[in-house]
Amino acid sequence: MVPQSRSVIRVALLVCGTPIPPVAEAFGGYPVIFRQLLQQGLDELKSQDRINQDVELILEGFDVREDSYPEDLHDWDAIMISGSASNAYDDISWINKLVEYVQKLHKEGEGLKMVGICFGHQIIGRAFGAKVSKSPDGWELGWTSTDLTKEGQAFWKGTVMRIQELHQDFVHSIPDGFTLLATSPHTTNQSMVSNDHRIVSIQGHPEFTGPIMKEFIKFRTANGTFSKELSEASMKVIDNPLDSVKVAAQILQFIFA
Ligand SMILES: *[C@@H]1O[C@H](CO)[C@@H](O)[C@H](O)[C@H]1NC(C)=O
Ligand SMILES: *[C@@H]1O[C@H](CO)[C@@H](O)[C@H](O)[C@H]1NC(C)=O
Repeated sequence: MVPQSRSVIRVALLVCGTPIPPVAEAFGGYPVIFRQLLQQGLDELKSQDRINQDVELILEGFDVREDSYPEDLHDWDAIMISGSASNAYDDISWINKLVEYVQKLHKEGEGLKMVGICFGHQIIGRAFGAKVSKSPDGWELGWTSTDLTKEGQAFWKGTVMRIQELHQDFVHSIPDGFTLLATSPHTTNQSMVSNDHRIVSIQGHPEFTGPIMKEFIKFRTANGTFSKELSEASMKVIDNPLDSVKVAAQILQFIFA
């Protein structure tokens, strides 16, 4: 068992997808990509003296598509739900089970925090009663400056959250008991936190860097998912600065608090 102390932050990543081959080859699978993001957030907190220098990060992946879940919740401080090429609204057994798991965890998981990214954000929306479906506006793709609400400014620090987007599904409403944190022109409900401060979610991908996004755009333009126009417009701004490290630091702060 992982030692239960505040010298370690323990994150169980519920893996809901596999990166496309060129991303997996160059950058690793989602556990590697998320560990790197959160490690950067931890280093940031340390450099600002917001956390003890000896705190370490543990992140382990559980492939929920294969029905792999953490055995003992006491081993973890947070459950993080990854992105996916699947649809959060589909009536598919592993997805239904994940939705029920989120509901159960919120009822019974005591101090455990939950963090949802993209598909994870949509799963959390669905679990708490929001409708999720394909957007009539199609894909939101690549570098995006999302606007933070008053609550979002306090939570994510700053006035905007600059992040990579890769989705065409969206959460129709902010469920009861949650507060909206960020919006974009394409997708109003970009980020939310539960009022009991147990759950936070983001529609965008703090774990995706410009180079990772370029691979996704190339791959999915070649296979006909993205139009040439969308691809070109996204590529133009793909290397713009991101707030990923700040976002990762705030996620850890949320888990640690
Ligand atoms: C969530 O998104 C929907 C659709 O864009 C929008 O109508 C609704 O006002 C948003 N909810 C909040 C709390 O902004
Ligand atoms: C294109 O690739 C993506 C990522 O692997 C996949 O989800 C999608 O189904 C593919 N689309 C087509 C039209 O082959």
